[in-house]
Order: sequence, then C-alpha cells, then structure tokens
Amino acid sequence: MDAPFGKICGDECYGIHYFKELESTNDMAQKPKYKHKDIIVSDAQTKGRGQGGNTWTSEPGKNLMFSMIIEPNGLQAAKQFLLSEIISLSITDTLASYKIKASIKWPNDIYIKDKKVAGILIENEVQAGKITRSIIGVGLNVNQTEFDNELAHATSMSIMADREFNRSKVLTRLCNYFSLRSEQLYDGDTKWIEDDYFSRLYLANTPHTFKLPDGTRFRGTIRSVSESGELNIETHNGSIRTFLFKEVAF
Ligand code: BTN
Repeated sequence: MDAPFGKICGDECYGIHYFKELESTNDMAQKPKYKHKDIIVSDAQTKGRGQGGNTWTSEPGKNLMFSMIIEPNGLQAAKQFLLSEIISLSITDTLASYKIKASIKWPNDIYIKDKKVAGILIENEVQAGKITRSIIGVGLNVNQTEFDNELAHATSMSIMADREFNRSKVLTRLCNYFSLRSEQLYDGDTKWIEDDYFSRLYLANTPHTFKLPDGTRFRGTIRSVSESGELNIETHNGSIRTFLFKEVAF
C-alpha cells in the first residue's frame, strides 16, 4: 500500500471506507448505510462495471477505484449531467495539478492525448423528478504501466509523468477539487461549469469522422453540449445533429 486511505477533510470531510477487494465499489455504495460524502475505495474489484454494461478491469493495488455517494440536495433530474461535468472537471483539475494535461471525451471519459486514463459510472436514484442519491464511480489509472491488448487505448498518470504517485494523496486532491466544483454547482454557477467542461472537451471545434451505431460514418465538428448532456455536431452542410450517449462513437 503506497499510503493508507483515511478520512479526507478540506473545507468539508469525506468518510473513506477502504476494502482490499470487493465485487464493485458502485454496488457496495448502494447499501443505505453509506451516506452523503462517503467514499467506497477498493484495491481490487472482481466485477468492476463500466458504462453500457462493459466491465472495468484494473491491476490490483495500482490504481484508484472508488465510488462517492452524493445526496445532491434536490438537484433536478433534468440537470443530472451537471454531476457528470463536475466529476469530469474534478479529475482533470487533479491531473492538471500534477502538470498532466487531460481532456474530457464526451460524455465523461478522461483522456490524455488519445488514450483513456479514467472512466466514470454514475448511477442516480430519482424521486419526484429530483436526484435523491447519486453514486459516482471512478476508475482512474494511476500507477499501472502495462495494459492488456484489449486495453491498448488505456494509459495512466504514471505512464504520462514517468513516475509513481501516492494514490491516497491523489484521491485527497480529487475530493478537494470535487468540493470546489460542488460549491460552484450549489451556488448556481452552472454556466461556469458548462463553459469549463466544453473548454476541456476532446476534439471540440475540430473536424472529425464520427460513427453511427449502424456503422455509417460522417464528417462533423463538435460545437456544443446541451444542458441535458446531448452532443451537438455540426455537419458538412452546416446543420446540427444532436446525439445521446451511445448514439455516436468517435
Ligand atoms: C467506463 O469508462 O466505462 C466507466 C468505468 C467506471 C469504473 C469505476 S471503478 C469504480 C467504480 N466501480 C465500478 O464497478 N465501476 C466504477
């Protein structure tokens, strides 16, 4: 262990619940005993889950795999994409603090150059149109330096910076940035969050070839992301096509 995971306190405290191995930190976080700002962190997952039913694999003890429970004080379900934005920004803020320049691949993969360094899986409970509880699962590749062939597009902080990182310190920084970004959210600075998110967006304003689920390809340029998280791509004739998650790949 590079450092014990303990309670994290900046302006506010996070309760850390450390496990050597479990199935999935997102699953564990679903237990009602875990409350706002509790974090389930594990050195290894046997059933790590990714977006769209994918699995998440990670070399035991090398990376950060955690799930943060947030009870977002009546945030409207229609604005849930803001949670995606603030965690994506917090991760890129953290990487920037280590002088690692990263971008956000819509909707919420974190990239360094053209490789993925982190993935995010958010699962929300909604009641009467409001988010009552959000589980924000993060897999951040920290010290892993070798990846299986099927993860050829993966990278880590260590590969990029050519040194090892103390995972507990990385998590502490990330939580502190998350507190700052949460303040922006609760203060109603949503324009600021959305602008920061777009300014870090991978391939924004850059012509690129996109792929539809039926295999069709088209040229276009990412121009904006809507409040509800849809991607707006300008096509060759100047029209804007709008996509939900999994409706377009790039
Ligand atoms: C993705 O990019 O597909 C999302 C990956 C999310 C992985 C993290 S690891 C911690 C948490 N627990 C899980 O089972 N998944 C998330």
